[in-house]
Amino acid sequence: MCGIFGYIGKRTDAGTIVIDGIKNLEYRGYDSWGIAQRQGNLIIVEKNTGKISDVDTARFHQECSAAIAHTRWATHGGVTQLNAHPHTSSDMHIAVVHNGIIENNELLRKNLQEKGHIFLSDTDTEVIPHLIEEEQKISSDFASAFQRACKKLEGRYAILAMNTKSGSLVAARKGSPLIVGVAKDQGYFIASDIPAFLNYTRTVHYLDDGEMLVTDGSSILFADLESGKEHPKRHIKITRTVEETQKGDFDHFMLKEIMEQKETIARAVNQNEEQIRTIADAIKNAQGTFLAACGTAHKACMAAEYFFSVIVQHHVNVASAGEFKLFHHFLKPESLLIVVSQSGETADVLEAMHIAKLKGAKVLAIVNNEGSTIDREADFTLSINAGPERAVASTKALTGQMAVLMLIAYTLAGKLHEGKTLLLETGSMINDMLNPRYLERIKALAQTLKEEEDCYIIGKSWNFPMALESAIKIQEVSYIHAEGFAAAELKHGPIALIEENTPCLVLVGNDEVTVDIINNAIELKARGAKIIGVGPARHAVFDEWLKVPDVGPAQAICNIIPIQILAYYLAVERGKNPDLPRNLAKSVTVK
Ligand code: G6P
Repeated sequence: MCGIFGYIGKRTDAGTIVIDGIKNLEYRGYDSWGIAQRQGNLIIVEKNTGKISDVDTARFHQECSAAIAHTRWATHGGVTQLNAHPHTSSDMHIAVVHNGIIENNELLRKNLQEKGHIFLSDTDTEVIPHLIEEEQKISSDFASAFQRACKKLEGRYAILAMNTKSGSLVAARKGSPLIVGVAKDQGYFIASDIPAFLNYTRTVHYLDDGEMLVTDGSSILFADLESGKEHPKRHIKITRTVEETQKGDFDHFMLKEIMEQKETIARAVNQNEEQIRTIADAIKNAQGTFLAACGTAHKACMAAEYFFSVIVQHHVNVASAGEFKLFHHFLKPESLLIVVSQSGETADVLEAMHIAKLKGAKVLAIVNNEGSTIDREADFTLSINAGPERAVASTKALTGQMAVLMLIAYTLAGKLHEGKTLLLETGSMINDMLNPRYLERIKALAQTLKEEEDCYIIGKSWNFPMALESAIKIQEVSYIHAEGFAAAELKHGPIALIEENTPCLVLVGNDEVTVDIINNAIELKARGAKIIGVGPARHAVFDEWLKVPDVGPAQAICNIIPIQILAYYLAVERGKNPDLPRNLAKSVTVK
């Protein structure tokens, strides 16, 4: 959460570069923004509440060759102008932007206040420029003062600092991502994520945990944060294109990404067969296979538990990554942890991974963002190949994750090709389903539901996690209160909430549990519910029916798509921006 971006180099439009670039990191947080530009011996800071996308880039076109910018998701301190980053030292010669949490900030702040430092904000970040300033009193070299200051910080961070006196940018990473873009003839771009600088370069260095960098715009040095010892670092060429990260003709990224599911299932299934077999063998030989993830990716893991049960009768253990550490007693060196993450940066998922590694277990990562921390730290990685996902609400990543997990289950059953064929056919049927008439039909349904305050979703088997996921989608973008349940749980409490015309979405397949869930829908209808069925067949109990193809064990992948579309149109019909839901951020890099 929070995006940071800085530039230093030969160009003299650093202000517009960083404001333009940070707009591409808005998905990381969007409650306030700020910029610091180096103008000769001065640092000029401008910051405010509100979305960075609403800021006019041209305003920052001043002669300037170094600048840092920030887009915030508040952790410490409310959403105010003073709490927005950058934060500065007392002498205004140092400016800092930060992503993460400084856990010992209260103690550091107290010590600094005793030394006469005056704080203007309630943030944890503000201790950093003051700490560097204090360290510079011991020895004035900016980079070494920065390094000593970082060693006093506890917590997770990516920090980027600018100094007028040395004329350099320094950065460090412990837990939160930082990537350096290198454009030989222009300079260095330091960002939380690649889209910030993709217009300028595809040559990157990924900063590792415990690593720092110093650059004056014409060269760059990497060093160990603990020892300060310099080391060489190789750059990597990435293949991502600017077009992939743009909205194109769509009104919102969310709709673009929903529509991309016409092809992303096939892309997810396009895996190296030998690698998939190696992973299936690792699962077969593991003494305990665990799956951990957060949010939507966690729902993919819950669906996978059913895939492994039904397709291959193999037991796996699924946990929300934030809860995983409580199960560490079950881990052995022979265990396998599968982590699933779109961004590859989620703090709780990283923690789960580190716990497993401490126990000597192997980690398989299923990620979308190649080059991310989780990708780089895992023992094996499979990419879902979905392309950048920008909308905060995850759509194409979910179906890609489920496709890869299902392919692994089929491979473990010795039926890789059967699984691949099923998933490719599913992708092709989704391609047919996602036509303009289908979208219009769901938009019309959204218009009838837009004034509702509550909505419930039920599912059974792999449709149960999809009911939970449906609730997340509807809540996060439309702000309608939505809850998902395992259909059989209805009679144990939730049915008490049903009144005349309460909308209830019923996710159905064509399998041995269909009869049960239809009976549950009938029970809901008997209490007045309006039943909106999602499934391959129309059942008499449905008041409305959203048809999906009949794809057997891949039904969850199809059933969630009309709900994604419904959530999208509910948001739009209610006048909300589905790409940037309130209080949320796409990449949750704090625990
Ligand atoms: C946030 C996002 C969700 C995502 C979750 C896990 O809550 O808004 O869309 O599912 O984080 O993120 P990850 O990148 O690990 O899949």
